[in-house]
Amino acid sequence: MTSTPLDLDNIQGDILVGLLKKTETFYFFQISDDVNAFRTQLSQLAPLITSTTAAMDHRKTVSQSKKDALAQGREPPVVPIAGLNIAFSQSGLTKMGITGDIGDVGFKNGQLADALALGDQGSTVNGKFVPDWIPAFKNAIHGVMIFSGDKQASVDKTLAEVSAILRVGAHDATIHEVLKVVGAVRPENGHEHFGFLDGISNPAVEGFDIEKPGQGAVDPKVILTGHDAILRPAWATDGSFLAFRYLFQLVPEFNLFLKKNPLPTDSDGNRLTPEQGSELLGARMVGRWKSGAPVDLTPIVDDPVLGKDPMRNNDFHYNIENDFTSQSRCPFAAHTRKTNPRNDLRPEFVTPHRIIRRGVPFGPEVTPDEAQDNRTHLGRGLLFACYQSNLANGFQFVQKQWANARGFPPKSTPPGIDPIIGQLNPGDVLPRSMSGTNPASQDELLGLPIWVVPRGGEYFFSPSISALRDT
Ligand code: HEM
Repeated sequence: MTSTPLDLDNIQGDILVGLLKKTETFYFFQISDDVNAFRTQLSQLAPLITSTTAAMDHRKTVSQSKKDALAQGREPPVVPIAGLNIAFSQSGLTKMGITGDIGDVGFKNGQLADALALGDQGSTVNGKFVPDWIPAFKNAIHGVMIFSGDKQASVDKTLAEVSAILRVGAHDATIHEVLKVVGAVRPENGHEHFGFLDGISNPAVEGFDIEKPGQGAVDPKVILTGHDAILRPAWATDGSFLAFRYLFQLVPEFNLFLKKNPLPTDSDGNRLTPEQGSELLGARMVGRWKSGAPVDLTPIVDDPVLGKDPMRNNDFHYNIENDFTSQSRCPFAAHTRKTNPRNDLRPEFVTPHRIIRRGVPFGPEVTPDEAQDNRTHLGRGLLFACYQSNLANGFQFVQKQWANARGFPPKSTPPGIDPIIGQLNPGDVLPRSMSGTNPASQDELLGLPIWVVPRGGEYFFSPSISALRDT
């Protein structure tokens, strides 16, 4: 248990609670040369920032209105709710004249400099690696504002208030927009674009969350700066580092792959229809069925009731007695097992690398034309965002040392890269043991298409609200 109580009015709400959203806009900006005016306006903006306390109140209000509606046998009303958080990149802090090290090398260097090490595709120009990112992320981004709401009109209202303070569009504007991306919860509520229920497994923060079975709890120092042992300036207490990734998903191509490579049998050796075989392959690649049910708990058939049950859908440890049996339940390379290996490692090797994920899908649903062509025509994917007290332990570690590493988790045969987010050269053939009946086989596999394509990103620092007001 943490000894110092957390200052919930001072910590931005997206970090520990998550901004409540049906829709969410990430507004990336550069700060103009009138830095003094911007810093003054920032203190006027501070009262509009959704704190952890406010985000908790939003959740309570919505859940109470759902309960009331249920009790009265009517549809739950849409409760108008809007949220706002803000974070800065290293170049943003520098622009604001905030010099000095805030104690994170990844943040200091920025994500563009990290793209090659993250495994992103790109080319070498004049001896320098240039990732295949959209232009906006290849230039300096000073900060990001995250606007959330129950509907676009609520987001637009906050955006208008903020724009008035920052004089956006006027000759004396103190910021200008670099890129605005709009995310939204999909019609299939809570499911990402490949169709899998997302946002199930985040760690509980000790002294703040009530831990659900199997969730795993972390000390606040894993998520919040100032609670760890790293030396930082006082103003950087109660903040968190935000890793943002602009991830495009090739959904028709992913579906085609599943269709073309159905598993012939389940792990008990029962023959499967092609549809069942494709569904099982997808579930084993993710580590969960589309319903959210973990394959480790139900390796043969989906169990949608389990998938939806927050008291059971995360309550498991991997079987580590025997590699063969373990993998016949959940492949070592499944996305969820690569990114949170649970008891595959001792807790001290897992806990420091837990992150809190706050992504939202973007882009339209797959159109009938795309489904027919088995090819993506329109951009869609995940606005991936996660918080941690230290990027080298958090996002950077999970992506580089776990997801992209074919030898992780360390087992008798190398499991291969994460089939969902692992990044390596297309065409590489790697062992991934997706089959349940012969998990030790290097699995026939399958070439290595990549269905999640990073097209940009940046590392930010989400400061405390008092730092926004006073720094
Ligand atoms: C869990 C999908 C990107 C880290 C999940 C789950 C799904 C999913 C469906 C299971 C639901 C849950 O446990 O909450 C995706 C998709 C991605 C993506 C489609 C890209 C488009 C990433 C990235 C990272 C990441 C970039 C970090 C580098 C995690 C973690 C979990 C998770 C830590 C929880 C695993 C657990 O605790 O069991 N993801 N994800 N994901 N993902 Fe991703």
